[in-house]
Amino acid sequence: MSEITENIPRHVCVIMDGNGRWALSHGLQRKDGHRQGVEAVREATEFAARKGIRYLSLFAFSEENWGRPKSETDAIMSLMVHAIHRETPTLMKNNVRCLFIGDIEHLQPDVLERMDACMNQTSDNTGLTLVVAVNYSGKWDIMQAVNRLMEEQPCGKHPVTSETLSRYLSTAGIPDPDLMIRTSGEMRISNFMLWQLAYTELYFTPVLWPDFRNPDFEAAIESFTNRKRRFGKIEESL
Ligand code: IPE
Ligand code: IPE
Ligand code: MG
Repeated sequence: MSEITENIPRHVCVIMDGNGRWALSHGLQRKDGHRQGVEAVREATEFAARKGIRYLSLFAFSEENWGRPKSETDAIMSLMVHAIHRETPTLMKNNVRCLFIGDIEHLQPDVLERMDACMNQTSDNTGLTLVVAVNYSGKWDIMQAVNRLMEEQPCGKHPVTSETLSRYLSTAGIPDPDLMIRTSGEMRISNFMLWQLAYTELYFTPVLWPDFRNPDFEAAIESFTNRKRRFGKIEESL
């Protein structure tokens, strides 16, 4: 059941940052921070579904994150496999459709298999769409879109419009995010949805991702509802 209220963002995206610092501050290992981060993902997903948010996109692993020690990237991938398996029944219960975006074809086969199984199983759900970005980068997304576009529509035939390019992005068919939340106090985009964030409202909080609870999500939504989005226009023409 959703508590739909006025002016709720249709699409919220989150850069879930601060797992490592959370772990260190609790005297734990970085991988324990990632494990705790999965709990916050479950809570945020249920909150978004209840609130009537239509799309929740989560940045789970960037292309650049491969630059971390292998022990950490292995731990994250293994956590991903287990979390997808364990959480799929909850997604079904909450009518959530799950999509994975990013360069996922190049992930190890067990990760890709679990992702495909989860996407297939949840594909007919009609509630929240949960978009999980794995091995994703905003520049990669634009480049793969351009490459596919050039293959299908050889240069010179039609001018490329913003709408055409959008149809080739990994977020095709999904409206651009209305609100972007980044946790852990960093104030940067870190190569997330570069094209899609053109007019997104940005919200930064010092809370570390594993500590991000419903009241923190609520505060971000409240901040959004108080923003005036102008899209380059002036008040009276809106
Ligand atoms: C975010 O937490 C999760 C991933 C990037 C995979 P971090 O692991 O970046 O946590 P910090 O920034 O080191 O605290
Ligand atoms: C961004 O966090 C990527 C994800 C949350 C998956 P990072 O921790 O990788 O970002 P930087 O390195 O601080 O910019
Ligand atoms: Mg980080």
